[in-house]
Formats: sequence, C-alpha cells, structure tokens
Amino acid sequence: MRGRFITFEGIDGAGKSTHLDWFGEQLKSRSIPVVCTREPGGSDLAEQVRELLLHRPMSLETELLLVFAARRDHLERTIRPALVRGQWVLCDRFTDSTYAYQGGGRGAPTEQIATLESWVHPGLKPDRTYLFHVDPAIAAARRTQARAADRFESEDDAFFGRVAAGYARRVAADPDRFVVIDGTMSVVAIRELLEKDLASYC
Ligand code: ADP
Ligand code: TYD
Repeated sequence: MRGRFITFEGIDGAGKSTHLDWFGEQLKSRSIPVVCTREPGGSDLAEQVRELLLHRPMSLETELLLVFAARRDHLERTIRPALVRGQWVLCDRFTDSTYAYQGGGRGAPTEQIATLESWVHPGLKPDRTYLFHVDPAIAAARRTQARAADRFESEDDAFFGRVAAGYARRVAADPDRFVVIDGTMSVVAIRELLEKDLASYC
C-alpha cells in the first residue's frame, strides 16, 4: 500500500514550517513512518536548484522550468520511493505553490503550468493539503522578525495578495483536498485543528 502524500502551503511567513515539523512528530508518535521534505529542494540536485531560484535573477519562463526540473528530481529520488515504501511524505510546498507564485503572483498562464504538471507528475497529487492563510501584511511582519528576505520574500504585499488569490482558485477547484487554516490563530489552536483533521483520515 502506498503512503500518504500531505502538503503544506501558504504565503511566506504564514506558519507552514512551524506546523509541518510538529505534524511529523504526531505521525511518529502514532508509529507512522514519515519523511519530511520541502520544495524547491528535497534532493541534492533540487537543493542546488533552490539556491538559484531563491537568489539569482531570471525570467519567469526560466523560473517556471527550474521549479519543475527541481520537482522532477525530488519526485524521482525522494517522494516516490518513500510513498512506494509505504512512508507518509510531508512536503513544505508542492505544485500548488507554482500555481500561486508563478501563476497568481507573476502571471504565468495557468494552461502552461498545467501542461508542465501533467508532464512532470501525471496522476500524482497530494492526498491532503493544509493551506495557511494570513494577511500579507501580517506575514511580512513575521518574516522581517524571523529572517533575511530572499528573491520571493522581497516582493511587496500586492504580490502576496495575488499569490493568495492564486491559492484561493486552487481551493475552489479541488475543495475536498484542502483544509484552509486561519494562520493568525494561536499555535495551540492550530495544532488542535490539525490533530482533529488527522484523526479523520488516520
Ligand atoms: P512559513 O514556513 O509559512 O514561511 P514559518 O513557520 O517559518 O512560516 O513562520 C514564520 C514566523 O511566524 C516564525 O517566526 C514563527 O515562529 C511565526 N509563527 C508561526 N505560526 C505562528 C502563529 N500561529 N502565531 C504567531 N506566530 C507564528
Ligand atoms: P520556502 O521554503 O517556503 O521558503 P521559506 O521557508 O523561506 O518560507 O519556499 C521558498 C520560496 O519558493 C517561496 O518564497 C515560494 C517559492 N516557490 C515558488 O515560487 N514556486 C514553487 O513552485 C515553489 C515550490 C516555491
């Protein structure tokens, strides 16, 4: 039996990473074998591509192709082997991020992204996606406190507003897969919500 594929999404600073690690611990405490990974990245080659994506100037077309090139390697080397072994894969971002950032944020045509998606990972989509929603201004304030900005995090609130709208279109197209979480709730309240949802399918 194949393991489950669970993704965490949201604009930068929404709180994904904070909750992904905790979610992984919850699975381990239930004796579920788990692999925590991230995009862009998650394999040696894809981590190198991540450095380019986060720090080097490039056109939208190059950005989109690099995102999917990194994803293909990540899938071949990390995600698919883990799922085949029966492990659960928790992934910090996946293709919904491409629709939201390159599509919503930067204006890449949805059909172009869909074509690359069907080429790079036909038939694979997350079983569950937790989408953390916070206002762009709140996310920006959290980021300023937490770390130095990369090429995406340096974008303004209007960009992140378009990214959020891109996510909203993804939810509307596939509502059963998504759980939308108000990322301004306390960490404890979010954990309770995640635990309850996990219990509904585990
Ligand atoms: P992301 O992975 O979505 O970019 P992080 O998990 O790195 O976000 O969180 C960004 C910052 O916000 C961190 O400093 C983190 O401690 C803080 N944070 C995360 N969740 C919450 C929350 N529910 N309430 C307040 N601060 C939070
Ligand atoms: P992330 O690791 O979430 O950054 P951080 O931990 O600093 O929040 O993601 C790195 C950046 O990559 C993020 O700003 C969004 C961007 N990204 C895309 O633009 N498209 C994609 O398909 C993916 C997976 C990420």
